[in-house]
Amino acid sequence: MIKDDFPYFSNSKITYLDNGATTQKPQRVIDSVVKYYSEYCANTHRGSYKDGNLATLNYEDTRDFVRSFINANSSREIIFTKGVTEGINMVASSFVKENFKTVIISSLEHHSNIVPWHNLGYKKGNGLEVVRFNNNLEFDLSHFEELLKKNPGAFVSVTHVSNVFGIVHPIKKITELTHKYGGKVLIDGAQSLSRINIDVKEIDADFFVFSSHKSYGPTGVGVLYIKESNIKSFKLYQTGGAVIDRVTYDDSTFLDSPLCFEAGTQNIAGVIGFKSALEYIKSISYEVIQKHEKYLLELLHKGLGEIDDVLLYTHSNLVGGNLSFNIKDITPIDLGLLLDKQGVAVRAGHHCAMPIMEELGIDGTVRVSLGIYNDKEDIENFLAKLKRAVSILKD
Ligand code: ALA
Repeated sequence: MIKDDFPYFSNSKITYLDNGATTQKPQRVIDSVVKYYSEYCANTHRGSYKDGNLATLNYEDTRDFVRSFINANSSREIIFTKGVTEGINMVASSFVKENFKTVIISSLEHHSNIVPWHNLGYKKGNGLEVVRFNNNLEFDLSHFEELLKKNPGAFVSVTHVSNVFGIVHPIKKITELTHKYGGKVLIDGAQSLSRINIDVKEIDADFFVFSSHKSYGPTGVGVLYIKESNIKSFKLYQTGGAVIDRVTYDDSTFLDSPLCFEAGTQNIAGVIGFKSALEYIKSISYEVIQKHEKYLLELLHKGLGEIDDVLLYTHSNLVGGNLSFNIKDITPIDLGLLLDKQGVAVRAGHHCAMPIMEELGIDGTVRVSLGIYNDKEDIENFLAKLKRAVSILKD
């Protein structure tokens, strides 16, 4: 049983279906973090003593592991961040600002890929364009190409997998088209790394960001992949210690990538723990993960189909492990609360994606998001508790 690898499930009776928000951590991730803090806790890239060297070695070893995991060319392209939000903000301020007149996003973006653009002055109709979706919430490639033709050299920033509906965007076609019209692309892999093999060379992304905590690793760690050809034009985001070549009172000179983009002490334990999370995913394999999620999604669809007045927003086949629904005349928050009272954790509300909720004319949804450890019993339990909640709320 995969759940046996996760101590959370020995300590909690909760049916955990909020993996889009964060995932539970396997014992081996917790062990790596504890080992760092209890056996060789020291700062990286500074002290030339045993523990400092070991911390540096393991931190840099994770960087190289990430490089190979996503098939990047070199470790220079792998920058550790706090997570996707920081990665997108870095690209917005250090690369896009002042160099791109137009930013194009999809309709299914999380606020973390909308608000940083607003913050730099890109607003809808004035530098910010939004790609339409079809009646299955799928990305409209022909509208996208129209936008690119009108705005050659645009910056495109899209999520790989929707955090609300699980829709998988055609990112390979998106990068091809963007490059054809002279633009650059960022892909947000927050919801994809845990379920889809990422090959940045094959995708041909200019930037790819992801967070560790949504893929079984510690919180507070993420990765910004910067394609080598973009590094030269990427301005420093923050400065301070750890990024320095030489400082006088007159001036400072900086190290090369990746260290020049990692100012201050990083989340060393988190980075080291993230390697264990990626090893864990590898040991299960994406093939097994996808097959299992597909099976659970089919059970969910079947079960939801047996409940009266269920509203689903897509019947697309392009779906990762997130599924959103509503029940007619019941607010998602009420459903979420009653599920919680019965020991089932789902997310209910706008899911940090208010614009798409507004486009669909709803306040929110109930979202079930799957993880590696969820099983048939979880889905059956969720469906039984949902039926009970609906009968109470409709009474
Ligand atoms: N982005 C996370 C979610 O969708 C927090 O729930």
